[in-house]
Amino acid sequence: MPTIREIYRSKFGQPPNAVSQAPGRVNIIGEHTDYNGGFVLPTPTPLHTRCAVGRRDDDVLRAWSTARSTDSIVDVDTLAPEAIGGWTDYVVGILQALRGRGVDIRGIDLAVDSDLPLGGGLSSSAALAIAVGRAILALTKAKIDPVELAKLVHTSENEFVGAHVGIMDPLVCSIGLQRQLVLIDCRTIEVRYVNMPDSAALVVIDSGVRHANASNGYNSRRAECERACAALGVAEIRDLGRQAPPELAALDAAVQRRVRHVISENERVFGVVAALERDDLPAAGRILCESHASLRDDYEVSIPELDTLVELATATPGVYGARLVGGGFGGCVMLLTDRERSEQAARQVCRAYRERTGELLEVYLPKLGKRAGVG
Ligand code: GLA
Repeated sequence: MPTIREIYRSKFGQPPNAVSQAPGRVNIIGEHTDYNGGFVLPTPTPLHTRCAVGRRDDDVLRAWSTARSTDSIVDVDTLAPEAIGGWTDYVVGILQALRGRGVDIRGIDLAVDSDLPLGGGLSSSAALAIAVGRAILALTKAKIDPVELAKLVHTSENEFVGAHVGIMDPLVCSIGLQRQLVLIDCRTIEVRYVNMPDSAALVVIDSGVRHANASNGYNSRRAECERACAALGVAEIRDLGRQAPPELAALDAAVQRRVRHVISENERVFGVVAALERDDLPAAGRILCESHASLRDDYEVSIPELDTLVELATATPGVYGARLVGGGFGGCVMLLTDRERSEQAARQVCRAYRERTGELLEVYLPKLGKRAGVG
């Protein structure tokens, strides 16, 4: 496999000025809580997005991605006032944000390569934006601390790209440490690292399903949460604490379910942290399964393929629990497994899935990396 330097050189005919990488993330628990001022427990993936950058003395971005295109270079004017609706928006967004912070950069030549599945719920977009941000900081020798960089990416995703996402993804892509879970208070951005028990391993299985309307679904869930807050007179669902107030019963049934998910999911984050800290993997696994049920029934962001995978996984020896990961409407499921049995368990789940649906799956295993076409 060519390195990112080689990829850059073959596209742009000279070596890059800087290279960098950033991981994606698997969220163990705390789904759809970040934009509600709540808690999340993600960890960076061993899979990375790599980029190589060369300085230009005009305002042009020439961007090349091994995943998205095979024979073209996209030209984008970095001074364009609006997003154009493609992956390069994430690049332009962070470039402009860094310029706004006084970083001395005009256009760039950029090559990108990634092990992450695109749009699969493992945060390939934040990994891209953080990797580009890191490369530009290396190139210009500007200093911006990793939490600040995550905040810049978050703002540019919301304001420039138009993806109204929470802070979790850029934050963990920027500050995460391998094999450490990060407990994040998304309101205060206070973080605490939590050890993953040695006997545990996370396995990610990609359903292969990508829904074109996933961002509509995401945005409408967000809007429902905002409606609930306005009606209940709080700034964020976090402010409701552990118990929904009686006034919630007057709101429409779907909004009630959304609030119930967020309140219970925040509780589950602390349940999983406590279980992992006492090495109680079966208890952690049970809570993950409860989270999936809540995402399926109350938040309504699952799809039949993910439900099937979770059902098959939880019936497999060596799997403590499973749930969909990320925003939902497609993408991946995450399995908490016994480390020794993780590979065998993943194969067994894929085989059972193929028997039921005829589909082969892609699996991401710790250390071993990606295994395509398992079943
Ligand atoms: C997406 C968003 C995150 C978060 C999750 C759901 O991944 O980017 O901010 O809201 O969905 O937990």
